[in-house]
Amino acid sequence: MWCEQWPALTAALLALSDAEAAHLNDDVPDTLRWLAGYLPEIAVLLPLIDIPVADQAAPPVPGERWAWEIPGRKRAQIEAFAGAVQPGGEGLIDWCGGKGHLGRLLGIAWQKPVHTLEIEAALCADGEQLARRVGLEHRFLERDALAITDWPRPGQHAVALHACGNLHRRLVEHGAGAGVSRFDVAPCCYYRGVEANYQPLSSAGQLQLTRDDTRLAVTETVTASPRQTRQRDRDIAWKLAFTTWRARVGDAPYKTFKPVPAPWLRGSFADFLARMAARENLPPPEAHHLAAIEAAGWQRQHDVMRLSIPRHACRRALELWLVLDLAEYLDTRGYEPRLRTFCDRQLTPRNLLLSAQRG
Ligand SMILES: C[S@@+](CC[C@H](N)C(=O)[O-])C[C@H]1O[C@@H](n2cnc3c(N)ncnc32)[C@H](O)[C@@H]1O
Repeated sequence: MWCEQWPALTAALLALSDAEAAHLNDDVPDTLRWLAGYLPEIAVLLPLIDIPVADQAAPPVPGERWAWEIPGRKRAQIEAFAGAVQPGGEGLIDWCGGKGHLGRLLGIAWQKPVHTLEIEAALCADGEQLARRVGLEHRFLERDALAITDWPRPGQHAVALHACGNLHRRLVEHGAGAGVSRFDVAPCCYYRGVEANYQPLSSAGQLQLTRDDTRLAVTETVTASPRQTRQRDRDIAWKLAFTTWRARVGDAPYKTFKPVPAPWLRGSFADFLARMAARENLPPPEAHHLAAIEAAGWQRQHDVMRLSIPRHACRRALELWLVLDLAEYLDTRGYEPRLRTFCDRQLTPRNLLLSAQRG
């Protein structure tokens, strides 16, 4: 295990205060600088993850009617995306666009016809109604992005805000073949559609990523309140308490377990452990051991929070590798790719914007 290979780093991690550990779990550049004191080679990631911020120019949209019903955070993401992109095609296709909010905003701002592709009939119906309210030529294609072959159309401008994994990869691969004039893609959930290993679109060199690696790229949370953070820490501590205890009394110490119903984690530790024991066919825990079992869980949570810091420090680099795979693919297909961030990561950590204009 890496802890044995880097004992000084391990000791320094385990000695971090709660506040230091929380900071290093959150601030990737600071973490890389801190880690470089023990692993100098990791500093090469610092300039690689320093991505330029897109200039923002709010699109000209008369009034508020376009934004009817959009929750605040989602609206802010859509406006930031729209402010970072330029028109670049004969019409727009909003790929996996839900109710088509992004397409609607850009269609009004640029006075262009819009198509939104979306698999969910109810979202398409709502989107059509919203488009009618603003009098926009906005059609919905209620289709499966993974199966459709006749969209996008040549010369279209394809936008995709948070189309997951294989949905954005499909757009890039298929859209380049179809002759899309411009792409603006903010990817997310890279692991969706990945089986055991990630299959690069480009000739991506030697790095091979597993599905778990692609999932790691998107595991951080940036929106938790202090109360949510305390609850998350307690969830982890209790689950680790359960596995520590199970290793002592059960016969399958490393077995995974089914998700724990949330209400079980909101009551007392004694009730939580009793329910888990009953569900997993283990003997009921003895009351006089409960405090020690819970304390063991908190100790493991303390260690896990600290020992996961090096892993978390690599998340942004992994994400960039995945996006650069798309960029390189587009480059080899005659596009000029460009990578920027379209908003602050507090608004969404999936804030990378890959734009590519056909040369
Ligand atoms: C994360 S949401 C993003 C929606 C929208 N772009 C936004 O930012 O508000 C992903 C959307 O993809 C749609 N979707 C999922 N699988 C799909 C598929 N196979 N074909 C088309 N749309 C799909 C979902 O229904 C959902 O509306």
